[in-house]
Amino acid sequence: PKGLADAMKERGREFIGTALTLRGNATEEAIARNPADFNSFTPENSMKWESIEPGRNNFTFDDADRYRDWAKKNKKEIHCHTLVWHSQLPTWVSQGGFDNATLISIMKNHIFKVAGRYKDVCTRWDVVNEALNEDGTYRSSVFYNTIGEAFIPIAFRFAKQASPKSELFYNDYNLEYNGNKTLGAQRIVKLVQSYGVEINGVGLQAHLAQETTPTAGPLPDQKTLETVLRGYTQLDVDVVYTEIDIRMNTPATPEKLRAQAKAYETVAKSCLAVKRCIGMTVWGISDAFSWIPGVFPGEGAALLWDENLKKKPAYDGFLKGI
Ligand code: XIL
Repeated sequence: PKGLADAMKERGREFIGTALTLRGNATEEAIARNPADFNSFTPENSMKWESIEPGRNNFTFDDADRYRDWAKKNKKEIHCHTLVWHSQLPTWVSQGGFDNATLISIMKNHIFKVAGRYKDVCTRWDVVNEALNEDGTYRSSVFYNTIGEAFIPIAFRFAKQASPKSELFYNDYNLEYNGNKTLGAQRIVKLVQSYGVEINGVGLQAHLAQETTPTAGPLPDQKTLETVLRGYTQLDVDVVYTEIDIRMNTPATPEKLRAQAKAYETVAKSCLAVKRCIGMTVWGISDAFSWIPGVFPGEGAALLWDENLKKKPAYDGFLKGI
């Protein structure tokens, strides 16, 4: 039977991906490897600043290299993640105390070394991740507090120089509700463009919930999702759902799993309704390993395969939407 990536390519789009952690689970890895379902992945943690430059100019590429090798061996695109982010940032950076010029040179070295090393394998890069508060203003971070909003176009300029063939994305969560944060990311696209710097896409993480949970939901309707996507494509950039998971209050019940399948279908349909929605990535394979229960206690069951690595109704819903 036809898989997710097969269906997506049939519809003239580029990719379906998953977040990937190589943890030695053969069943999970075989699902991620299956080219019918996935032709792309995002390294879940291995390219983050704390993993790859834990000390100043001390680069530890071994782990990220494993993902590059896995991609080559299994013929996958890599959605590389992420160059400039306030989180999973080593203390030597986050504690600050740098002047403007010094922090820019630190960013430059990081981006040139990391994006430069993987320039032939990163189809896309999340250059800047999560720079916005919920109200659309800039989040307080060492980058914003030291450099100001210019840290964003500066990061994109370095990334383009270091890896000219990669598509460069601004990536954030809660952009799906057509609120102030949605507008904030439009402002960021225009800001980068106003510097004469290339930005190729907006990544909507899509950490969503079907029902209302203590931390999210309910799901935006299809029309809202399409409006949000078009708000970005009108600025001449592509859009991608970069980290889809649709959580629920656990335990799962058959009804909730059916509603979740509908929710996955809605998200997929919204992408397919917008020509420049080039792909979608789900944030992992199995509920057994998802980040959700660890961060949102009492919530979970957010992915397409259950804790026993069996396909859920959500898989069929997602496929139906493509
Ligand atoms: C999460 C990973 O899934 C976890 O393994 C890690 O402990 C924390 O980060 N937004 C992002 C992702 O951009 O990098 C985050 O991934 C989830 C939220």
